[in-house]
Amino acid sequence: MTYSVAVSGASGYAGGEILRLLADHPDIEIRTVTAHSNAGQPLIDHQPHLRSLAHLTLQDTTPEILAGHDIVFLALPHGQSGQYTDALGDTPLVIDAGADHRLTSADAWDAFYGGTFHEPWTYGVPELPVAGAKQREHLRGATRIAAPGCNASTVSLSLAPGVAAGVIDPGDIVSVLAVGPSGAGKSLKPNLLASEILGSANPYAVGGTHRHIPEIRQALAAASPSTGSGTQTGTGSGTQTSSGSGTQTGSETQRIGISFTPVLVPMSRGILATSSAPIVEGATDAQIRAAWQDAYADETFVHVLPEGRFPRTADVIGANTALIGLAIDRAANRVTVVAAVDNLVKGTAGAAIQSMNIALGLPETRALSVNGVAP
Ligand SMILES: NC(=O)c1ccc[n+]([C@@H]2O[C@H](COP(=O)([O-])OP(=O)(O)OC[C@H]3O[C@@H](n4cnc5c(N)ncnc54)[C@H](OP(=O)(O)O)[C@@H]3O)[C@@H](O)[C@H]2O)c1
Repeated sequence: MTYSVAVSGASGYAGGEILRLLADHPDIEIRTVTAHSNAGQPLIDHQPHLRSLAHLTLQDTTPEILAGHDIVFLALPHGQSGQYTDALGDTPLVIDAGADHRLTSADAWDAFYGGTFHEPWTYGVPELPVAGAKQREHLRGATRIAAPGCNASTVSLSLAPGVAAGVIDPGDIVSVLAVGPSGAGKSLKPNLLASEILGSANPYAVGGTHRHIPEIRQALAAASPSTGSGTQTGTGSGTQTSSGSGTQTGSETQRIGISFTPVLVPMSRGILATSSAPIVEGATDAQIRAAWQDAYADETFVHVLPEGRFPRTADVIGANTALIGLAIDRAANRVTVVAAVDNLVKGTAGAAIQSMNIALGLPETRALSVNGVAP
């Protein structure tokens, strides 16, 4: 079967990367691409690297134009998706790359985003440990999927194994991330001009204000062994309500304490997240290493590097791969985890397409590469 697809936000970075990956997917026909200020223009004028899609023209983003496809991808600024998702009730599968359907807590949405709160959808990070299982189990047959925030999924994948195994204390996490400016989108912003970022490392959203913080707390709460199953998901049944018990908005989420500092660095793509957390009393080195090794041993796209090895962003560019290096710092009594992802692949479009494959019952790795582009 060939699935017809519409991609909104097709002139932007996330939409462009979804299109790049879908263009090589044998089960997908990209039928419609939509945008906002650039509607009416050829896609190729905005995504000149997408040569095989040169025949497509950007249309207006309206519910009518998006309707009638088997699958709709939304890659719009946060706060914009909800107006379309409400009108796409008949669409078999909708995947939102924005934040609108990620959070289970209306209070967290109000505190970090504001505007109308939309109900949570099934979270699109298949490898995440959730309450004794993996998030992919919740993605099978899902009809509404919230692709992750790129920084959020990088930090969650970094620490969830240790939280799930009970070998780190999730109440005192520190994460510092080097991030490339493509994570902030394609629209013009003075702080993203080349003259502002080349030759400089620029911190932003310092002091607990970054919007990905509640998403990380939610994911790590779901990984906690004391969390009931299903709290990291919507129903995926099309009714779009959360099957969760609200646990993540309560005591489990409150247990997750994170100091989160992103630093903009002059690389187009990529996230290098360095996270640390205290070692729980009595946890041995072998137990700590096993927590991460066991969590990802069977994963195609998440690799724990051998002891003493740490990833570089250059090794994951263009790949749907997360590389993780682990150090046990007994002097500081902390585990330090370094993770590298391509924000536009594993952090967004790759996660969305991997989740789509699982939801449709297709091979999970289809149209996704574990290999990066180097140098
Ligand atoms: N960039 C990343 O690494 C990344 C990672 C994870 C998640 N995401 C999420 O993906 C979404 C898109 O991000 P991005 O980086 O691709 O942003 P972007 O490059 O700025 O692209 C935004 C896209 O949305 C369109 N758009 C803007 N306002 C709109 C509106 N009111 N209605 C309909 N379409 C509108 C734009 O169309 P025009 O160009 O025609 O105006 C453009 O196609 C965001 O929610 C972001 O959080 C991005």
